[in-house]
Amino acid sequence: MIKKCLFPVAGYGTRFLPATKAMPKEILPVLDKPLVQYGVEEAVEAGLTDIGFVTGRGKRAIEDHFDVSYELEHQIEGTGKEKMLEGIRRLINQCTFSYTRQINMRGLGDAILTGRTIIGDEPFGVVLADDLCFGDSEGVLAQMVRLYRQFRCSIVAIQEVPHANVSSYGIVEGEAISDRLVRVTNMVEKPKPEDAPSNLAIIGRYILTPDIFSIIESTPPGKNGEVQITDALLRQAQDGCVIAYRFRGRRFDCGNVDGYVEATNYCYENIYRKRSC
Ligand code: G1P
Repeated sequence: MIKKCLFPVAGYGTRFLPATKAMPKEILPVLDKPLVQYGVEEAVEAGLTDIGFVTGRGKRAIEDHFDVSYELEHQIEGTGKEKMLEGIRRLINQCTFSYTRQINMRGLGDAILTGRTIIGDEPFGVVLADDLCFGDSEGVLAQMVRLYRQFRCSIVAIQEVPHANVSSYGIVEGEAISDRLVRVTNMVEKPKPEDAPSNLAIIGRYILTPDIFSIIESTPPGKNGEVQITDALLRQAQDGCVIAYRFRGRRFDCGNVDGYVEATNYCYENIYRKRSC
């Protein structure tokens, strides 16, 4: 059973400055809830309740969010506002939260390797909280956990993106197993459109087997001089098996203003208005 989920949250969020100057990008709210809380809810829905954050300088607000605020609780005790904290209180009761710091920003592969101390020797989920995902009937991570049980290897979530946008993503190529499943044979981090093997982009949801840690250790820096998880996964695919999964649902890139506004409108129409009426 997969119990642990890693949230690499050390990044500076430079695409969202100045909003992220003094505030972690993962705390940006979509409506009334921070992005990172959506991610943790998705993990819990998939049964992953041991939550690990690979954090960094200036990210204290994330720790505070997943902790009790006694002063605040005291202040609103017995008022109608108490119910606004129900969701986060439930998460705090259901989960354990662990934190470790990435000292130098050396890329997503390095961030995941930093989380080894929390994960140990078991398969685990990875959520990039600025990719906000809504599964069709079940969450994207829950869909992936089911696939893991079937294949027992690393799984990456993918979606088709416009060819012009491939340079923002890890791109996969492989043999189709079925409509939604691809056995990965090649992966390239942020290729130029003319060099991209496909338009199947990895989005921020992964299930990784723990051998990935030693693979990352011996993976040299790649694109932008950073240790890329995409490069480590390619080696795992070549030596064993990595499955790419075209998930059922929607994903919003909340790391930029367009995706963030789209997500906000989607949540307002599909979640908030339904909740309010
Ligand atoms: C990271 C990964 C990339 C992946 C993307 C998904 O890039 O390196 O392979 O496609 O997340 O959001 P980042 O967006 O952090 O630059």
